[in-house]
Amino acid sequence: MAFSEKFLEELAERNEITDVVSQYVRLTKKTGANLFGLCPFHSEKTPSFSVSPDKQIYHCFGCGRGGGVIGFIMEIENLSFRDAVAFLAQRAGMPLPEEEKTEEASQRRRLLELNREAARFFHSRLMDPEEGAPARDYVARRGISGTMVRTFGLGYAPDSWTALADAMKGKGYSQRDLLEAGLMKQGRGGGGYDTFRNRLMFPVIDVRGSVIGFSGRILGDGEPKYLNSPETPVFSKSHNLFALNLAKKSKSGYIILTEGNIDVVSLHQAGFDSAVASLGTSLTPEQARLMARYTGEVVLCYDSDEAGRKAAQRGIGILEKLDLKVRVLQVPGAKDPDEFIRAKGADAFRNLLEGSQNQVEYRLRAVEEQTPPDTDEGRVDYLRSAAQLLASLPGTVEREVYARRVAERAGVSREAVLEEVDRLRRRKLSGARKREAREMARPAQTAQPSRREFRYENPRSARAEEGLIRLLYLDPGLARGKELPEPEQFSSPLLGRFYRELRQRAENGAPISMAVLAGRFTPEELGHLTSILDGTEDLSRGEQALSDYIGVIAAQSGEQEDLLQLAQRKRKNNRYGG
Ligand code: CTP
Ligand code: MN
Repeated sequence: MAFSEKFLEELAERNEITDVVSQYVRLTKKTGANLFGLCPFHSEKTPSFSVSPDKQIYHCFGCGRGGGVIGFIMEIENLSFRDAVAFLAQRAGMPLPEEEKTEEASQRRRLLELNREAARFFHSRLMDPEEGAPARDYVARRGISGTMVRTFGLGYAPDSWTALADAMKGKGYSQRDLLEAGLMKQGRGGGGYDTFRNRLMFPVIDVRGSVIGFSGRILGDGEPKYLNSPETPVFSKSHNLFALNLAKKSKSGYIILTEGNIDVVSLHQAGFDSAVASLGTSLTPEQARLMARYTGEVVLCYDSDEAGRKAAQRGIGILEKLDLKVRVLQVPGAKDPDEFIRAKGADAFRNLLEGSQNQVEYRLRAVEEQTPPDTDEGRVDYLRSAAQLLASLPGTVEREVYARRVAERAGVSREAVLEEVDRLRRRKLSGARKREAREMARPAQTAQPSRREFRYENPRSARAEEGLIRLLYLDPGLARGKELPEPEQFSSPLLGRFYRELRQRAENGAPISMAVLAGRFTPEELGHLTSILDGTEDLSRGEQALSDYIGVIAAQSGEQEDLLQLAQRKRKNNRYGG
């Protein structure tokens, strides 16, 4: 990543954050200098997403996300840093710096072209009357039609160490390109060999239509069953879904999420053109966000084993956070959707789909399995867990409907169930209110970070470290001619890293913008930084505050050292005389 700071700062200036955010979020409530709206990154009913025009940052008090305008675009458009920069440059009508265009971007383009050529090569091998025969046999055994072979661009990686490499080198690609694309692996003697050999090849194509990687299945039994492209500059498993390039065009109104590539092919063949698979990973929030761009509803159709059930449970949580409607579909009497369709046909699957239980029923069933209400004791446990579940449902009607079902199952009255649900809801509400009141009463800068990994060892010093960071960000000029502490004196390593960046710029008299930091810290880390910057600081007494903070940090880090020395001396004394 090599955008100059000057370029990034101009980019941020020309993309005013409230303007940009307003294209996605209705900013209404004005509180102090900040604008508020409903957070686009988590579901909520009252606005806790704030934008500060002064500081050019956003921060959500609910989910803790935050950052500058580039970070916002990265999150909301599901883009990498460089793509987000390109997006904003386009928005502001700024050309990307020429150097950028040549170096990394052209290498990415080259890798994508190479992948496309490789996909063509694999496909031609599958179609080759002789060489492709074993793979075509396998395709036929799996019941995959010729149309599907073309739709998915399936291919065959020949049983050879260098077939692909030779063909690609013939087209002008270097070994370095092939290694970088994950299509070759480095051999011991410095040479290389094809990554994919004797496998049925599934190209992974992103929503823009670029071939970004491959998934290769062994023909028949053997290990590993699947081999996937490694992470490359153009491929990330956790950020993509197999067949979303096709599913995004479906008119069905939902996306069917399965575990396996073969499940997807089978479903498309049976007419369910909105099936995708998660590339061998368990569903990630990025993949969920990707789906949310194209649909409002996801049907989880995982394998029928314990692992599939667990994965579905986890998936529900991730999808609901994005306000996606979720249904869970289990295929009875088959291990996965592919086997089900092959055994019972497309109509049987459609019946399942139309009658597929929504996620409440699914979760109630899970509760029932865990605590069967067959004994008095079991009934009590079942009712307790089921009531918890019902209490978490937002709609009154929904709660009443399912309360009836729970009541029937446990053999008690519906009123008894609803009463318990109401009790739980009241308790939850008052808990939330208390928490809210506590949050309001305490200034932001005295809170421990909400994320565990950012917790402070020395809260006293950390408070001063936060203060110093805030001052440097708001008024870098304050630091001129001051004896500032070293980042190593900071008690919190993360705050130390923020501080190192800020101090360097303050010393050079450069303005400090979030744009520059976006490439150097994770979104979680930036979220923490924005929560610090959101704290209030009285700049009219900035000088005084600055020396107070410096004093505390020096004293605390000195104390730390004194303690260490004391401990050392003690150990020595014990050894020699004590
Ligand atoms: N997978 C993987 N590596 C493996 C096994 C599986 O990456 N060693 C991924 C593949 O993306 C695969 C998915 O996990 O598609 C689901 O695995 P599985 O159910 O075993 O594969 P299916 O696609 O259903 O293939 P098949 O029906 O041929 O068993
Ligand atoms: Mn499977």
